Amino acid sequence: MAKIQQTFVCQSCGAVYNRWRGRCEACNGWNTIQEEVASAGPQSGPAATRPSRARGRVFPLEGLTGEAKEAPRTASGINELDRVTGGGFVRGSVILLGGDPGIGKSTLLMQASAAMAKSGERVAYISGEEAVGQVRLRAERLGLAKYPVELAAQTNVEDIVETLSQGHPPALTIIDSIQTMWTETVESAPGTVTQVRSSAQALIRFAKTTGTAVILVGHVTKDGQIAGPRVVEHMVDAVASFEGDQGHHFRILRAVKNRFGPTDEIGVFEMTDAGLAEVPNPSALFLAGRDHAAPGTAVFAGMEGTRPLLVEIQALVAPSSLGMPRRAVVGWDPNRLSMVLAVLEAHGGIRLGGHDVYLNVAGGLRISEPAADLAVAAALVSSLSGAALPSDSVFFGELGLSGAVRPVSQAPARLKEALKLGFGKAVTPQGRGEAGDRALPTDALRHIADLVAGIASG
Ligand code: TYD
Ligand code: MG
Repeated sequence: MAKIQQTFVCQSCGAVYNRWRGRCEACNGWNTIQEEVASAGPQSGPAATRPSRARGRVFPLEGLTGEAKEAPRTASGINELDRVTGGGFVRGSVILLGGDPGIGKSTLLMQASAAMAKSGERVAYISGEEAVGQVRLRAERLGLAKYPVELAAQTNVEDIVETLSQGHPPALTIIDSIQTMWTETVESAPGTVTQVRSSAQALIRFAKTTGTAVILVGHVTKDGQIAGPRVVEHMVDAVASFEGDQGHHFRILRAVKNRFGPTDEIGVFEMTDAGLAEVPNPSALFLAGRDHAAPGTAVFAGMEGTRPLLVEIQALVAPSSLGMPRRAVVGWDPNRLSMVLAVLEAHGGIRLGGHDVYLNVAGGLRISEPAADLAVAAALVSSLSGAALPSDSVFFGELGLSGAVRPVSQAPARLKEALKLGFGKAVTPQGRGEAGDRALPTDALRHIADLVAGIASG
């Protein structure tokens, strides 16, 4: 018999408690715990009470190899999107797409839907946020209304599964968004962790049994977490986030988790009047509008996955009137900045203790590579000394705590990209990859002091 069970669930991380409390011990969130009523029906009862009957079938691992060497994929037709997924949507896989409200998730997915429908695939776009009319209006504005994407405004998972089960299953199903979905199997309100999790579970089951690829849209909270459905992150095959700041018109699609492909590739788009346009050569975009003669800027030759990406690092170092000088970073790891500052002080003879330091990666890009250390150090020294760096130079290299400039991966690809974009010189670590491309003269450094001396001498 079904028994009503009272539980208290953290709406941020999904931790479950048997009584209410003000703060979640799992994620330290305040006021995130809400009461949820879950009916413990036969499915959720303990497995031990079920009669033990062998139901599953086992398969020998080696016997399966011939069947599925490479996961069957359907390309979306949008190159920057396919690059991030690893070559298209894997049949039966589920992707969670997170991003701030208004960043362009619905626009991207409408474009992907239309592109796939155009190539003859069945595509369903389920909107729980907008009415069918609104979705169609957007498609019209994007010039995509002529493609046979099936639209529905539904929020009940059982209804959705029933609708989609008519005819052959869609190649792609978009659920916009998972927070608006609800299932009859649990009694909590839509948007609660229990509902989001149960709805996602039902949709994942639908994907696995029918082979349709499902994309779940998830909203992101202020602190960058995919709200509520953090629990969903563990259930899906891939998690992608769509980023960019509202002040800039380009957007970056990044894979955070990917069972079937790479996690370090990014897709770059530009938001235009006609929707999202692919940016096949992002370096040119990120370097556009660069002020060549300004002190405090250095061009970093970075890598995003297999693609080289040049970006401008901007530093501003100014005498501080505060007892505790300010350190502000946009687009890079603040801890990494502290480390570079410490190395500059200890081994480069640069005193920054009485200065405010601001660091910015131009264009709203977020980089995570330690290879940016050398470019950051160069920008800082340049800002402090007031001497602009040569505008035709790129920088890359990791700094060790000893002040050593350490080699980084994929140096030849970085040098090649710099050459392609018209740069005349690269300041790099000594050693591996240094001779990779003779066409671009390199200034190979061994120690941070070499960099400081080089900038001082102009
Ligand atoms: P949307 O896809 O609705 O964002 P999300 O689903 O992530 O909440 O994008 C909305 C924003 O995109 C809105 O501010 C307007 C802008 N936009 C354009 O600039 N050009 C376009 O062609 C479209 C459709 C939207
Ligand atoms: Mg939307």
